[in-house]
Amino acid sequence: MNPYRHLRIAICNDHAGYELKLKIVEYLLGEGATDVKDFGCHSTESCDYPDFAHPMASAIKRGEFEYGISICGTGNGISMVLNKHFGIRAALCWNPQIAALARQHNDANVLSLPARFITEEDALSMLDVFFMTKFEGGRHQTRIDKINQ
Ligand code: RB5
Repeated sequence: MNPYRHLRIAICNDHAGYELKLKIVEYLLGEGATDVKDFGCHSTESCDYPDFAHPMASAIKRGEFEYGISICGTGNGISMVLNKHFGIRAALCWNPQIAALARQHNDANVLSLPARFITEEDALSMLDVFFMTKFEGGRHQTRIDKINQ
């Protein structure tokens, strides 16, 4: 059983998230993921996270990917960009419990990580939890329906 086989996952980052992104992609491929698209950036040279987050959000909105991962120094800037897009729910997570709740309660479709404030081990510990945890629906769906004005 390969739980990642049918998942289409997009990933984006800025320079602060580049090294962690490489580790995450390596992990996902090692776990059997076959459909991981890297929207960049592709080096540690200083860049602007919106340039990579907007294209990833658009691709998720078009239905090309079920989930995304976004990484910048704090995880905040890149999440702010993604959450401007209707239908994108990027959740800033720093431990597995928060990652699980982001799926169960918020139906988050993007796992956003603060590269400068977590370890590689922290990041990897959130991946299986995030991608394998189901949304609970019910009262949480009612709340999600009220997010957009
Ligand atoms: C880059 O220095 C940093 O500002 C960025 O990665 C992010 O933390 C912004 O929210």
